[in-house]
Amino acid sequence: MKNIRIGHPLIQLQSVDSTNTYAAQLIRNSEVTEGTVILTVYQSMGKGHGGNRWISEAGRNLLFSVILRPDFILAERQFYLSMCVSSAIQEFVMPVGGPVRIKWPNDILLQGKKVAGMLIENTVLNLNLHTSVIGIGLNLNQKLFPPELPNPTSLALVAGREFNASESLNLLLRSLEFHINRLYEERYAEIKTCYLNNLYRLNEWADYTDSTGAFRGRIVDIADSGMLIVKKENGTERQYGFKEIVFN
Ligand code: BTN
Repeated sequence: MKNIRIGHPLIQLQSVDSTNTYAAQLIRNSEVTEGTVILTVYQSMGKGHGGNRWISEAGRNLLFSVILRPDFILAERQFYLSMCVSSAIQEFVMPVGGPVRIKWPNDILLQGKKVAGMLIENTVLNLNLHTSVIGIGLNLNQKLFPPELPNPTSLALVAGREFNASESLNLLLRSLEFHINRLYEERYAEIKTCYLNNLYRLNEWADYTDSTGAFRGRIVDIADSGMLIVKKENGTERQYGFKEIVFN
């Protein structure tokens, strides 16, 4: 069982296409240390979840990627990594002013608006994870957002003050270290409980749409695979992958 430090080394860039792409190149071209962080002031081609772009004002937010080698984790359990990262961000944001909720699969909502997102890109060897690039975009001090972004906010908008970027990064990296070490200690049940405790709409009746149309349902659990388990009003239960269900 290994214990990991995150942010040693810390590679700081002024500008890059995407810290995730840069991290993947580092992994391919060198013997990179596990826990290396690539931080940038600006991304020209920031990547978001599901093929979207991540657009972020230069110098106002946290944009970084963490390199891991979680080779003891079965690929089929890779969502546990995502749960750890969501919980780490949730815990970091919480003191700013609640409620802070994780919207499945991994958007972080502060007072109902998106304050952070993550893009985790893994490689798999045999049945296990091999390398993992954890990209995090967190809105720190940005106050104006392009109108096409759905429902954004930042820590500064909610708290009414500016945040120091390096202090914030440090706190967030410590939170990530805590939650990722919980994974490295294989405490899977705790990881899931922590994620579910902060999951948006858990056990609440709400409106959704799937391929069969609109319905009322209740999120009851998350499968080990990361699929969302929803109970419909008519009593049937279904599991959904990303993009198979819309939250209305
Ligand atoms: C999402 O769509 O919610 C995920 C956004 C992830 C953005 C971060 S910013 C740093 C890292 N580099 C990227 O290109 N994307 C991630």
